[in-house]
Amino acid sequence: MTSVEPLPGISDAEIDRCRQPLEKAWTLPAKAYTSTEVGALEQQRVLKRSWLPIGRVEQIPEPGDYLCLDLLDQPLMMVRGQDEKVRVMSRICLHRGAPLAEGSGNKKLFVCPYHAWSYQNDGQLKKAPLMDGAEDFDERKCRLPGLKTEIWNGFILVNFDDEATSFAEQSARFGDYFSNYRMDDMQIIRTLEFDSHWNWKVLVENFMEAYHHIAIHARTFEPVYRARDSKIVDHGEPCSILHMPSARKQMAQGFPLIEKLEEWQKTDLLAAVAFPFFLIATQGNSMVWYQILPVGHDRLTLKIHICIPGKNIEIDDFDALADAAAELASIVHHEDIQANDMVWKGLNAPLAQQGRLSPLEKSIWQLNQWWLGRMLGHA
Ligand SMILES: [Fe+2]
Repeated sequence: MTSVEPLPGISDAEIDRCRQPLEKAWTLPAKAYTSTEVGALEQQRVLKRSWLPIGRVEQIPEPGDYLCLDLLDQPLMMVRGQDEKVRVMSRICLHRGAPLAEGSGNKKLFVCPYHAWSYQNDGQLKKAPLMDGAEDFDERKCRLPGLKTEIWNGFILVNFDDEATSFAEQSARFGDYFSNYRMDDMQIIRTLEFDSHWNWKVLVENFMEAYHHIAIHARTFEPVYRARDSKIVDHGEPCSILHMPSARKQMAQGFPLIEKLEEWQKTDLLAAVAFPFFLIATQGNSMVWYQILPVGHDRLTLKIHICIPGKNIEIDDFDALADAAAELASIVHHEDIQANDMVWKGLNAPLAQQGRLSPLEKSIWQLNQWWLGRMLGHA
């Protein structure tokens, strides 16, 4: 993209304040979050050009397993074919557009409920009944369109841009940083789901700074992961990593530790985002994936997936430990809901103004630089 268009309702002066060095930088203006017009541009310039995580391979372990979801107005299904390959494809019938499936399950054939066209689980049309006389219609040439798909550490990522650089390539150092946690061996053990009425950036920004631990998480996180100790790991990729050293040098409670971690990895908390919103957090015994599915510029579905190494699912007290991990995630997220609700109210206020960033909020600054680069056509 070469043309530079101003962002609707956002002045050059407001953009300049965001683009200052961190020590002088301001937040994005409210319209970057609340404007329908900016949201529509964001979908084209940012979200449809980025790698977006939509699932984990262990959610569809067997040939024929499928899971449906809607992403940026596109009904999709991720399916493991009879050949074991994971594909992400449109679940809209090639005939008159009816959805071929909902929810999840296992199918060798997807049969359209409208006129019974049937598709193999690799997307190939198998049979379209009563189409004799439709000239030049060839079932063999009909296949459900797919999205560019990549498997990374057990995550299934998609990109609406067929020209996109591979996620593994653009995130090589990011991947190395988390390699000890062996996320590809992990499995989802519990999922919490929330319908959230904020722009997705509000959630990402909250996830990526520990400054708010002093107030919002004063009794939960702050005694262990102190705001003032948090720091950003610099690596020059379109990602941000927040390292929260533990003030207590004992091992994490609960599930057994992940094997072969460094000493600091056993105690500390890491939060990370691969822009725009691939959010993970790791501790010594687990990983949490905050899956964002935008439903518009002002709403999203959030699924918090708690993951542990597959072999730890076999331990005796698994259910009690899994419930306890889910309970803690729920308590912390309900604290964050309060924060995000407050921010959303403020951003929608007529007198909303940009605010100064703390140096502890470097991840937000990094996201802002990346977002503005995409939105202004510089990247
Ligand atoms: Fe928080």
